[in-house]
Amino acid sequence: MSLFNINPTKTASWKELIKHYEETKDVHMKSLFLEDSDRKDKMSLQFEDLNLDFSKNRMTEKTMNLLVELAKECELEDAIEKYFGGDKINETENRAVLHTALRNKDANPILVDGKDVMPEVNETLNKIEAFTEEVVNGSFKGYSGKSFTDVVNIGIGGSDLGPNMVVEGLHFYKNHLNTHFVSNIDGDHVAEVIKDLNPETTLFVIVSKTFTTQETLTNAETIKKWFLQSAKEDDIQYNFVAVSTNLEKVKNFGIDEKNIFTMWNWVGGRYSLWSAVGLSISLAIGFENFRKFLDGAYAMDQHFKKTDFSKNIPVIMALISIWYNNFFGSESEVVIPYTQYLQKLAPFLQQLSMESNGKSVDRNGEEVTYQTGNIIWGNTGTNVQHAFMQLVHQGTKLIPVDFIGFKESLHGNEDHHQKLMANFYAQAEALYAGKTAEEVHLDMKISGDEKKINHLLPFKVFNGNRPSNMFLIEKLDPRSLGSLISSYEHKTFVQGIIWNIYSFDQFGVELGKELANKLLIK
Ligand code: F6P
Repeated sequence: MSLFNINPTKTASWKELIKHYEETKDVHMKSLFLEDSDRKDKMSLQFEDLNLDFSKNRMTEKTMNLLVELAKECELEDAIEKYFGGDKINETENRAVLHTALRNKDANPILVDGKDVMPEVNETLNKIEAFTEEVVNGSFKGYSGKSFTDVVNIGIGGSDLGPNMVVEGLHFYKNHLNTHFVSNIDGDHVAEVIKDLNPETTLFVIVSKTFTTQETLTNAETIKKWFLQSAKEDDIQYNFVAVSTNLEKVKNFGIDEKNIFTMWNWVGGRYSLWSAVGLSISLAIGFENFRKFLDGAYAMDQHFKKTDFSKNIPVIMALISIWYNNFFGSESEVVIPYTQYLQKLAPFLQQLSMESNGKSVDRNGEEVTYQTGNIIWGNTGTNVQHAFMQLVHQGTKLIPVDFIGFKESLHGNEDHHQKLMANFYAQAEALYAGKTAEEVHLDMKISGDEKKINHLLPFKVFNGNRPSNMFLIEKLDPRSLGSLISSYEHKTFVQGIIWNIYSFDQFGVELGKELANKLLIK
């Protein structure tokens, strides 16, 4: 069944939101806190070990009610049912969208074209488990009989960014295998990765849903050539495995059929890290941890599916984003994890969100008349405080922030962690409260130089009223990371539903590929 086709700007709630925006756009959040001493509690949500505090947003209860109404008018409930139920909601590619099936633990079948996908999902998971075990315990050996020390993931886009982000994100949980990623077609990338590797003890995982992607195939061929300088054609079966839907092409590359991990066309590239595309994750942290990662995502799926919109974390995340994007005219959002482990979260979220919702044609095939996908960017705290935060604090643009912090430090360095978290809270507070002219004056009074004070004062004032969400999670571990990523996936989905666009195709990346191929032929 198709998704409903509703122009959000024609709904009653959208019209109400425009009026409401005009009435409230200049209200300072400080006055909202003063008016309601329970604001923080009312605007916080708890899911397992994750707390989302969204009280530092330029919105009231009425704003949220209207936004929830908008979601209802756009038939979000029906869309969620179709999303989880295996309906072909990726209509332009005639495909279901079932990354949620990859972590599903319900007993109920999930049907695509009348066939339950769960037996195949579980079979592949079993295969990932068995393979991981053999590689980690050293019984699956390279061509010369030695156990593996290194794993190289060859892929790009969704076949790289997700696994790369999680392997780095969960580095604390890693085993003895060292994992590397080759993605760019820049020959220097692959050269740098392989230069110190031993072909005998390196396992190559070629990940390409289509097995036609220029970058991945070129890198795989280059690595194969390098490998064959020390090994024979027949040895490829020991050191190369592949993850793909295109079994024929993989076999032609020389990979043994038993070393092919399947995936399905109902898994989009940027949503595929839960499938065998995540093989390098499982190899790096062990299958047990990989399962915990899937379980965390599944738990968030249940929350998203079953919770009332007003208490639903991904729905709230999406609605807040729409409020700034479509009413305040914010063009971008910044995501700042306060952990170095999540350095690659922003590039992952960029593909997730921008490849999904960077669309300007609605589900009716017509040009949209309103803003859709916003620009996602970010990096880790506290590094960003010494880089781009100046613009977020005092620039001319309104840039909502997602701060992501963890209560516990993995290595247990309390001194560092207290300082890290002090910065996490301070940034949100500074954006929210700012610093008034009186406060600046008071600070500078001690100098006694009134002339200097008056000269510098305007530069030192912070208007504040800059919004942020605060995610506070107990500890960075496989389960919490799984839940966090799943919440961003569902946020992206909700936005696409409300913007009335198709979030699961990516025709926008094709033209560049075509032109590059034409230039190569010339
Ligand atoms: O960039 C376009 C894209 O199709 C992404 O959606 C995908 O993640 C990436 O290319 C890689 O595709 P494949 O896994 O088929 O090599």
